[in-house]
Amino acid sequence: MRLDKFICKSTALTKAQAIAHIEEGDIKVNGNVISDISAQVHENNEVIFLGKQLFPRPFRYLLMNKPAQTICSNIDEVYPSLFNYIDIERPQELHIVGRLDADTTGLVLITDDGRWSFNITSPNKLCPKVYRVHLRKSIDISAKILFAKGIKLQGEPQLTAPAILTIVDDKQVLLTITEGKFHQVKRMFASIGNKVVGLHRESIGCVTLDVDEGQWRYLTVDEINDLNP
Ligand code: URA
Repeated sequence: MRLDKFICKSTALTKAQAIAHIEEGDIKVNGNVISDISAQVHENNEVIFLGKQLFPRPFRYLLMNKPAQTICSNIDEVYPSLFNYIDIERPQELHIVGRLDADTTGLVLITDDGRWSFNITSPNKLCPKVYRVHLRKSIDISAKILFAKGIKLQGEPQLTAPAILTIVDDKQVLLTITEGKFHQVKRMFASIGNKVVGLHRESIGCVTLDVDEGQWRYLTVDEINDLNP
C-alpha cells in the first residue's frame, strides 16, 4: 500500500496531514526516512512516526440491504447515499463493491480492501451474482438459451458471459451473472424485447442477503474468505 494510505490507515490523520508529515521527514520505514508519499510499504514493514511504530487497522467488510432511491456513492447526489444508513467510523475510507442503480434494491458489499473488491467485481474471477427480476411482459422460455450462450449488448464489443435464467413465474425470474456491465440486467432484458420493472440482488458468491431493508452487518470471516478464494 502507498505510504500516505498506510499512515491514514494507522492513525487518525487526514490524507493532507499524512502527506505533510511524510514530506517533513517524520516517517521512517525500516530505519530510513522516507519522504515520498507514493512509496510502497508492506504490512510487515516497520513504519515509525515520531518515534512510535504504526500498525494499520484491519480491513472492514460489510453487507447491506440497499433500499430503493438511494445511491451507491459515498456522497449524496440526486438521491441520498446509502452511507446515510451506516453509522460507522470513517465511512469515507469505505467503498462499494459493484454499484446498483438507484432503483435497484438488495445486497451490496462494502469494504476498504481494494484487492478483495477487485476479485469480486472482475469478470475474470467469475463470481456469481443473483438478481430477482420482475418483468413487464411474460418471459419467453427461449431467453434461457440466449442468455446461456451470451448476447450482444448495444455498444459492447463482446457477448455477455454465460448467464443462468431460472423462471419463477411468467413475469418473475432469477438471473445469475458473473459480470457487472453498466445496467447489465436491464440491458439484457431490453435486448430480448422485455423491460425490467423491479430488480433486487439476492446474493453474491456464497453471501446471501439476510438483513432487513436499510440494515447492515459485518461479514463473517468465512464469508470474507469464501468470496476471495
Ligand atoms: N443490472 C442493472 O441493470 N442494474 C443494477 O442495478 C444491477 C445490475
